[in-house]
Amino acid sequence: RSLMKNLISQLLASAVTRLQNEGVLPADLIPSIQVEIARDKAHGDFASNLAMTLAKPARMKPRDLAEKIVAAMPEHEAVAEIGIAGPGFINIFQSKQWLAARLDEALQHERLGVPAAHPVQRVVVDYSSPNLAKEMHVGHLRSTIIGDAVTRVLEYLGHEVVRQNHVGDWGTQFGMLLAYLEEHSVDAEAELADLENFYRQAKQRFDESPEFADRARERVVQLQAGDPQCLALWERFNRISLGHCQAVYERLGVSLRTADVRGESAYNDQLASVVDQLRTTGLLTESQGAQCVFLEQFKNAEGNPLPVIIQKAGGGYLYATSDLAAMRYRHSALGADRVLYFVDQRQALHFQQVFAVARLAGFVPESMQLEHMGFGTMNGPDGRPFKTRSGGTIKLTDLLDEAEERAHQLVAQKNPELAENELRQIGHAVGIGAVKYADLSKHRSSDYNFNFEQMLSFEGNTAPYLMYAYTRVASVFRKLERSMEHVDDLGAMQLQEPAEVELGAHLSQFAQTLDYVAREGTPHVLCHYLYELAGRFSSFYELCPILAAEKPADRDSRLRLAALTGRTLQQGLNLLGIDTLERM
Ligand code: ARG
Repeated sequence: RSLMKNLISQLLASAVTRLQNEGVLPADLIPSIQVEIARDKAHGDFASNLAMTLAKPARMKPRDLAEKIVAAMPEHEAVAEIGIAGPGFINIFQSKQWLAARLDEALQHERLGVPAAHPVQRVVVDYSSPNLAKEMHVGHLRSTIIGDAVTRVLEYLGHEVVRQNHVGDWGTQFGMLLAYLEEHSVDAEAELADLENFYRQAKQRFDESPEFADRARERVVQLQAGDPQCLALWERFNRISLGHCQAVYERLGVSLRTADVRGESAYNDQLASVVDQLRTTGLLTESQGAQCVFLEQFKNAEGNPLPVIIQKAGGGYLYATSDLAAMRYRHSALGADRVLYFVDQRQALHFQQVFAVARLAGFVPESMQLEHMGFGTMNGPDGRPFKTRSGGTIKLTDLLDEAEERAHQLVAQKNPELAENELRQIGHAVGIGAVKYADLSKHRSSDYNFNFEQMLSFEGNTAPYLMYAYTRVASVFRKLERSMEHVDDLGAMQLQEPAEVELGAHLSQFAQTLDYVAREGTPHVLCHYLYELAGRFSSFYELCPILAAEKPADRDSRLRLAALTGRTLQQGLNLLGIDTLERM
């Protein structure tokens, strides 16, 4: 995935083609080209064992073949020197001038050398999407945070992104809430301030009173039939519930707005036509009164086909039905080229099924990419399901309160001289940043344990560590009373010391890293990149004096390198939805 590795592979590949055309190598050979970063930089920066792997089919000695390959390699400015070592390793030194020129370009460029995406895609990102019947809890954190980071990366690369918050705002539990809301209409507003409690009480009534339960079921039917009174109550409930969500988004610095909400209910009037279209295409089968689609590729453990239920025997529609309607809408109304779903891994089968049905039914064209970006579970510090001491679900707001409070204390210990309001501000940025980064830095498909101490540590792959790395760069520029945004007057960069080259080489990988994140939906790759960047900056900072450099030209060049590091750290963290601070 490195720029230089790719380039060298290309040069080696064209050498092979040339040797094939000249008859030196058999024409039907498909070489697997491997390029490694050399551990011992004395013999080169990169090494390839290509000559050894091709020696046999070429019937040549590896060293002789290596010589032929090197002679056949096209020249490139990025390569300073090529050598052959040992039994036939091809060693490549990269050009420091070329690398420095790339970094100079990045400093000039509005997006730090990251080229605009081509072709530009229209990407719909379905994320957060909580069920509105309850307050947002820790289970909603991952989709919200990971989805937002990938959304930001896609936009940065120049794609057209449409956010879709596919909230669960329709379904049986709303009958229960409406019935309860009716009973308590006077103080409903106040009671709904605590949604969690409201839900619990409604559920209790539902379980206790058969008469209430009947009323709840009646309300679902009325609601779905469009009864104005029920609708009005339901809207009031949703408005309050969405208000809760919006407050959490704002606190988290998540870019979702109310206008991005398009919940299950938005597809209500399209569900009948989804069923019709499935029937017309001959996909529908009736099974025990329900309308189902059976697909060859989905079978249960006994080998019997698994149904995708589209409509229940009583006429009710399902989660899958609104997802099918949503896919059709995302194609026809939103014009999506690609749709990403940031949803719990446990819904993997659901998405495989609805994707397959949507394609067969012609709801979406073959060219529209549908990707379930699944994620694992966030567990408590002990690796068990994350619950309060009494066994209840942990509210997101409580969790964030604690993160901010702990961060505040840590920062106050480190900087007792700071004023309280500044401490609060730093505590907020660090606390929220830590929670987000802890999640983003793990591979999304794995489960992870939520651990305050770990995520708030100033050492290791954490938000505080990276935020602190940024403040170190910032303090260099503060001392000079200048901004890292403007370093044009400092001449061109020169990379001499190994620590400068290492830092520069890593900086030149920013674009590749973002491309990868956009393709795979894996922000942890960006986290890892930034962590490595901070580490390389640290070594550089220790080994190469900036302000105390002997020669002015060294000082200027190092300042430019530091400026690019600071700006890349800031931009990278910003793409993860994490704020940087000038001091902390
Ligand atoms: N509301 C669902 C849940 O909480 C997630 C919805 C995800 N998006 C979708 N298009 N199905 O499980």
